[in-house]
Amino acid sequence: MTDKKIAIVTGGNRGIGFEICRQLAREKDIQVLLTSRDKDKGKDACAQLKKEGLEVLSYELDVTDENEIFRFRDYLKKEYGRVDILVNNAGIFIDSHDHTEASVFSVDIKTIRKTMKTNAYGSLFMCQALVPLMNKNNYGRIVNISSGMGQLSEMNGGSVGYRLSKVALNGLTRIWADELKGTNVLINSMCPGWVKTGMGGANATRSVEEGADTAIWLATLPDDGPSGGFFRDRKEIAW
Ligand SMILES: NC(=O)c1ccc[n+]([C@@H]2O[C@H](COP(=O)([O-])OP(=O)(O)OC[C@H]3O[C@@H](n4cnc5c(N)ncnc54)[C@H](OP(=O)(O)O)[C@@H]3O)[C@@H](O)[C@H]2O)c1
Repeated sequence: MTDKKIAIVTGGNRGIGFEICRQLAREKDIQVLLTSRDKDKGKDACAQLKKEGLEVLSYELDVTDENEIFRFRDYLKKEYGRVDILVNNAGIFIDSHDHTEASVFSVDIKTIRKTMKTNAYGSLFMCQALVPLMNKNNYGRIVNISSGMGQLSEMNGGSVGYRLSKVALNGLTRIWADELKGTNVLINSMCPGWVKTGMGGANATRSVEEGADTAIWLATLPDDGPSGGFFRDRKEIAW
């Protein structure tokens, strides 16, 4: 048990998720649980943060395994009795870099299914498991890490699996926000921009610090903060 707020970050072992764990852990009143699909990678990430004086706990969690997600929920219920912050960050981008293969004319349905399972359904199950715990305390902040590639207003061709998964994730943000209306559980989507990570690559224009900034803001919104929005650089953007 702890008086601190409990924050859960998926895919927290590297990239933007790791930076979100670091920045949330710097807030004195937040206990971060860094979750990762590989147990050792999660432990190593926490050990790195410990060297910076940050006490972050690790938990093994593959977001494509709904049974694991609901076991995690049971663990949180028993250990802390609540959850305050959820950052649905875990994501994959497995569309081909080959122009023809990545086209909607020829995309392999397996790519779409696999990407949806991680990027969209994983977040759905995380919310189904944890939102009831948030509702119990009438407090919750949920951040769905989406992408400009899921913006319908800016939609281009190619990368079909990734684009559809982020469109679905944004749809879930809107659906949850509507069903949570009138509660103090706020849910928003955000785009981190093009960030230097395993996924973004070395040519990306933003640092992980810049990529994580809007997520930290949304994860710590005041009670009168927005819900059901899509943000980049702390500003609302079109769907
Ligand atoms: N980088 C960008 O430019 C950019 C732009 C827009 C949006 N985003 C979004 O930002 C988020 C983070 O991306 P990133 O750039 O930090 O990517 P990254 O460096 O590739 O890291 C992805 C993280 O997700 C984890 N992950 C993947 N599948 C998982 C699963 N089934 N269960 C649990 N964890 C899983 C990875 O774990 P492993 O280490 O085990 O692989 C890793 O920790 C993603 O949702 C991505 O779509 C990124």
